[in-house]
Amino acid sequence: MEKKTFFINGAVLLLLCLSLSSTTTNAHNITRILAQFPQFSTFNHYLTVTHLAPEINRRQTITVCAVDNAAMNALLAEHLSIYAIKNVLSLHVLLDYFGAKKLHQITDGTALAATMYQATGSAPGTAGFVNITDLKGGKVGFTAKDSSDGEFDAAFVKSVKEIPYNLSVIQISHILHSPDAEAPTPAPEVANLTEIMSAHGCKVFADTLLANPDAENTYTSNVEGGLTVFCPMDDAMKNFLPKFKNLTADGKNSLLMYHAIPIYESISMLKSSNGLMNTLATDGAKKFDFTVQNDGEEVTLKTKIVTARITGTLIDEQPLAIHTIDKVLLPTELFKADIAPAPAPSPETEKAKAPKASKKHHHASPPAPPSDSPADAPADGPADGPAADLTGDTNDGGRREEGFWRVVSVGLGSLALNFLAYANIGFHLSVEPVH
Ligand SMILES: *[C@@H]1O[C@H](CO)[C@@H](O)[C@H](O)[C@H]1NC(C)=O
Ligand SMILES: *[C@@H]1O[C@H](CO)[C@@H](O)[C@H](O)[C@H]1NC(C)=O
Ligand SMILES: *[C@@H]1O[C@H](CO)[C@@H](O)[C@H](O)[C@H]1NC(C)=O
Ligand SMILES: *[C@@H]1O[C@H](CO)[C@@H](O)[C@H](O)[C@H]1NC(C)=O
Ligand SMILES: *[C@@H]1O[C@H](CO)[C@@H](O)[C@H](O)[C@H]1NC(C)=O
Repeated sequence: MEKKTFFINGAVLLLLCLSLSSTTTNAHNITRILAQFPQFSTFNHYLTVTHLAPEINRRQTITVCAVDNAAMNALLAEHLSIYAIKNVLSLHVLLDYFGAKKLHQITDGTALAATMYQATGSAPGTAGFVNITDLKGGKVGFTAKDSSDGEFDAAFVKSVKEIPYNLSVIQISHILHSPDAEAPTPAPEVANLTEIMSAHGCKVFADTLLANPDAENTYTSNVEGGLTVFCPMDDAMKNFLPKFKNLTADGKNSLLMYHAIPIYESISMLKSSNGLMNTLATDGAKKFDFTVQNDGEEVTLKTKIVTARITGTLIDEQPLAIHTIDKVLLPTELFKADIAPAPAPSPETEKAKAPKASKKHHHASPPAPPSDSPADAPADGPADGPAADLTGDTNDGGRREEGFWRVVSVGLGSLALNFLAYANIGFHLSVEPVH
């Protein structure tokens, strides 16, 4: 299946942001400034996901050395952890104002500028300082002080935006390399997952996780690289336990791992990344995915069997987010029997399961292998949704579909822009194509 990535509610978010920003009085907003320049969209995106943007907005007398998407791609190709990327990018934020004019008039032709990386205190020795030097022919060279070879990594390209003497945004030709900044950084100390869940209404799920060490280990080992957990609240999990106990050991682990994704996603990120989401249980042919879908201000997680609503957030600190949900997520890989009853479907139920003509071909060939149940049919877009209603689990599915399309129609305009911004995340996000 061809996979596409897109995001549907940019316009809604934009409206929200506009109304919010009218109440704040920040002198500058680096995200907004860079948003006017598509060639910096990757750099801008990473300022946001590393939470450097608010740091930049908070400060005065600052210079941001932006690089274009090609230079960012070279950095991303190194597959650094998000913390290392944050270090590297914070090395590109100078704690002084360097407009184009000042750059060409540096006293004695060379200067060391302190950076935000140095200011974090995590930079050892002289790492965290950038050497700026006027070179022959009006060129200005940049290099990290701890860069190994003494060559200049990057050259000044142009001034992007000057707000004297608060903020200067300049373009430099390449990423500044610093062995210290790029060294794998340990994840910040994160709290005990199961303790957080136990203390906040997900005790049954947490206890179940502790009783299945394989799944628990998978959770723990993923935290550093980014983890988002969707924990079913106690009532839902308690009701589900009899079914859970019936699963094989593998099934139990898969069910538990199905409730987490190997990336960090805050609620606002989830709102802007609707679509198919792989989980910790995803493994080759075993898809174990679900669909993230906005429903007004709410975010829902849909499998073909159940639609769960995100009801709260227990922790949201990169790299870890734990959100609560009101239902246990049932993957078709484990529970397809529930929705594909043994007797061959009568023409009538067949029609109900595949209301769209385009889906007929999934059921056309008579000697269907066991896996060719409606639940296993490739995701053909929202047309698949109503199939889940057959179980009675999502009796308001129709309303949700309607809401979905309303949001799509509002958001289509900003789709292309969002695509640009997100295309380089490198996260394994895929979305079912909409016809
Ligand atoms: C610079 O920042 C200060 C403090 O936030 C603000 O009062 C001033 O208006 C800013 N200057 C410009 C030109 O935006
Ligand atoms: C900065 O601008 C972006 C994009 O316009 C917006 O989403 C964000 O809320 C703004 N931040 C602040 C602090 O106003
Ligand atoms: C910057 O680097 C150049 C070349 O290595 C060197 O000549 C110069 O002294 C350095 N400037 C500072 C302030 O350290
Ligand atoms: C988290 O706490 C529980 C007890 O509350 C303990 O059994 C478990 O080993 C802890 N996990 C980690 C990763 O420390
Ligand atoms: C557990 O499995 C048994 C045997 O297959 C079945 O009779 C029973 O209904 C199942 N219980 C639940 C809660 O699914």
